[in-house]
Amino acid sequence: MRAAVYRTYGPPDVVRVEEVPTPVPGDQDVIVRVCAATVGVTDGTARRGSPGYARLFFGLRRPRWTVLGSEFAGVVEAVGAGVTRFRVGEEVVGITGPDFGAHAEYVRVRQDGALGPKPANLDFAEAVALIDGTALAFLRDRAGLRPGHTLLVNGASGAVGSAAVQLGRHFGARVTGVCSTPHLDLVRDLGADEVLDYTREDFTRTGQTYDVVFDVAGTSSFGRCRRVLNPAGRYLSPVPSPGLLVQMPWTAAFGGKKAVVAFTGLRKAADKARDLLLVRELAEAGTLRPVIAERYPLERIAQAHRHLDRGKYGNIILTVGEAG
Ligand SMILES: NC(=O)c1ccc[n+]([C@@H]2O[C@H](COP(=O)([O-])OP(=O)(O)OC[C@H]3O[C@@H](n4cnc5c(N)ncnc54)[C@H](OP(=O)(O)O)[C@@H]3O)[C@@H](O)[C@H]2O)c1
Repeated sequence: MRAAVYRTYGPPDVVRVEEVPTPVPGDQDVIVRVCAATVGVTDGTARRGSPGYARLFFGLRRPRWTVLGSEFAGVVEAVGAGVTRFRVGEEVVGITGPDFGAHAEYVRVRQDGALGPKPANLDFAEAVALIDGTALAFLRDRAGLRPGHTLLVNGASGAVGSAAVQLGRHFGARVTGVCSTPHLDLVRDLGADEVLDYTREDFTRTGQTYDVVFDVAGTSSFGRCRRVLNPAGRYLSPVPSPGLLVQMPWTAAFGGKKAVVAFTGLRKAADKARDLLLVRELAEAGTLRPVIAERYPLERIAQAHRHLDRGKYGNIILTVGEAG
């Protein structure tokens, strides 16, 4: 099969389309013909091998996983003898998570992995743009967001932020989205009650306070956000910093305002699979809609990485084969 392969860390051109062995199913495995996959921030970090500490995970001297891509949508091509949950021809979405491998024509997942049915109302690219459960895991599980809460999303136009704005509204919160000037309308259209342009104002200095600050962009800090948090408010970020890693256990033990960092990609596959069902329900109800910056065919994977390096809003999608 064809796959986007890289063997050394470096600029976008280190990723090339090559022939690699097609996966075969073990007893509990599902082989999915990939139609679309995301090219996300983690893929960029893994390709660059930078910042340096990332190599502790991705491989010290050379990449440990040579085919990137964590989220995919496609069609079940083959199943192992013991597979009962999925059948050939079914349209599915899934997350390989730390195993990567989705930037390829076929990917192998266990039937009890993070795999679920594709929302019927979306094409493969739209479906894959919605399945990262980061915003859901932060807002539902870490913030306990509920009706009447006030939520500020810093980085509201990105992949995680655009989902966070929509989920914030779904959970009944009043949502403020922070992004740059060109994306204000997008964030407003996603349902934000208020939008702030970070190139013109600092959300920590407006005098407004919030129950939850979700710093998706990671450009602020718990220290700076303390003053905009209500007494039992939470500062959440998916971007770990040494300070945050110390503040999290400290604020968990003492004080009202909490700092929270989490690594949602490392959640159990069963939890991710459950969330895929919820995301499908929300997508089919029209509560969640995908935000796509650009679609690139597999052959243009280096361009997709170049786009990633320039910075993006929403999701960059790799399409594979004709259905993608
Ligand atoms: N811990 C975890 O489990 C986990 C899981 C997923 C992602 N992440 C991390 O979460 C972060 C966000 O991921 P993503 O996929 O959403 O990234 P993304 O799609 O690249 O979005 C980043 C957003 O940040 C905004 N931004 C840039 N500079 C800003 C500033 N100074 N103030 C406010 N917003 C600013 C950009 O908005 P404009 O375009 O409008 O400028 C952009 O839309 C990444 O660092 C990623 O590694 C962590």
